[in-house]
Amino acid sequence: MADTKVYRASTTAPVNIAVVKYWGKRDTKLNLPTNSSLSVTLSQSDLRTLTTASCSALFPASEGDSLLLNGAPSDVSGARTQACFRELRARRASLEAADPSLPKLSTLPLRLVSENNFPTAAGLASSAAGFAAFVRAIADLYELPASPSELSLIARQGSGSACRSLFGGYVAWRMGAQENGGDSTADQVAEASHWPEMRALILVASAAKKGVSSTSGMQQTVATSGLFKERIATVVPANMAAMEKAIAERDFEVFGEVTMRDSNSFHATCADTYPPIFYMNDVSRAAIRAVEAINAAAGRTVAAYTFDAGPNAVVYYLEKDTEAVVGSFYHVLGGVDGWKTAAIGGLKPLLALDEGVAGLLQAGVSRVIMTGVGEGPIKTDEYLVAEDGSPA
Ligand code: DP6
Repeated sequence: MADTKVYRASTTAPVNIAVVKYWGKRDTKLNLPTNSSLSVTLSQSDLRTLTTASCSALFPASEGDSLLLNGAPSDVSGARTQACFRELRARRASLEAADPSLPKLSTLPLRLVSENNFPTAAGLASSAAGFAAFVRAIADLYELPASPSELSLIARQGSGSACRSLFGGYVAWRMGAQENGGDSTADQVAEASHWPEMRALILVASAAKKGVSSTSGMQQTVATSGLFKERIATVVPANMAAMEKAIAERDFEVFGEVTMRDSNSFHATCADTYPPIFYMNDVSRAAIRAVEAINAAAGRTVAAYTFDAGPNAVVYYLEKDTEAVVGSFYHVLGGVDGWKTAAIGGLKPLLALDEGVAGLLQAGVSRVIMTGVGEGPIKTDEYLVAEDGSPA
């Protein structure tokens, strides 16, 4: 009898925000980076992608592979997505070749359905969580015996930063040296439980799609910036070493300083790109001034800012410094959405922020997200594809 079963697997995957940035590819086809990078995985209670991968002989072959993302069909024909499908299928096919009793899932069309638990209006790049969930869900569907590091090699080809979202806690993506990218994978530097007090306050300065995508922006930097050569040769290797030591020793002073310096270095290479690329705006710079003022008032580094390819500020801090950090931002931004009021009720600001800085933040920050370090992908029995194969 023909096998008409709908095979399904579901997983959630987290967002990660780098503290040593990936910026630049040495091979655009294999998506190999010019430098190693390091990130903190954020809690999935606040930010996560849920993806169900399914396949069945019932799905018409003419449909091919498909992806429904936040309720809308999404194009899967791009080279990056195709590379992920191809790599995962090849691994399943070799399992099937070794054990003929296995169902031939590698020959069936894949239906993927994916949803984010955060609004697109949060203005956060979701490609990291998206590709990590995509790869993890298909790997689970195919019952691949692959480790997260092996899967990171596949997710990397979807989107570089996605390779770091296959782990929780503190994660490094090692640039590797091999031409085929076989050693360009992610590994866990420390579990979330090693330093669970790490928190992140995200100031959403714009939900608009970024002007210059990271994919194209980074290659413009590689091609034209002199400063970038220095960044990858000396700045990043030193930052990676310092950051790994800071995490091992739970040293927030060093963690914070390296985070801010690396963000500054990355955005300096953007400004040094010709023509220049500007991701930060006046609101971002006001957030930097605010963090500097908070640290000065505290007399130590209690908060650390970092910016990706857009104006949103991510401010890392430790739980014990919630009052100093969150209290000070809440004082000026209390009117916007996203505060976990139970956690911050009654907090006193450490200082009153400068009026100019406060005004810019009030005019430009549309919402905040309060989160912290969290776990890697989690298998779940919540399915976005019903047993009959239709979107649930
Ligand atoms: C600034 O991972 O989005 O967020 O590999 O081209 O998909 P592609 O780029 P992507 O770049 C992220 C760049 C960054 C820094 C980082 O996350 O390390």
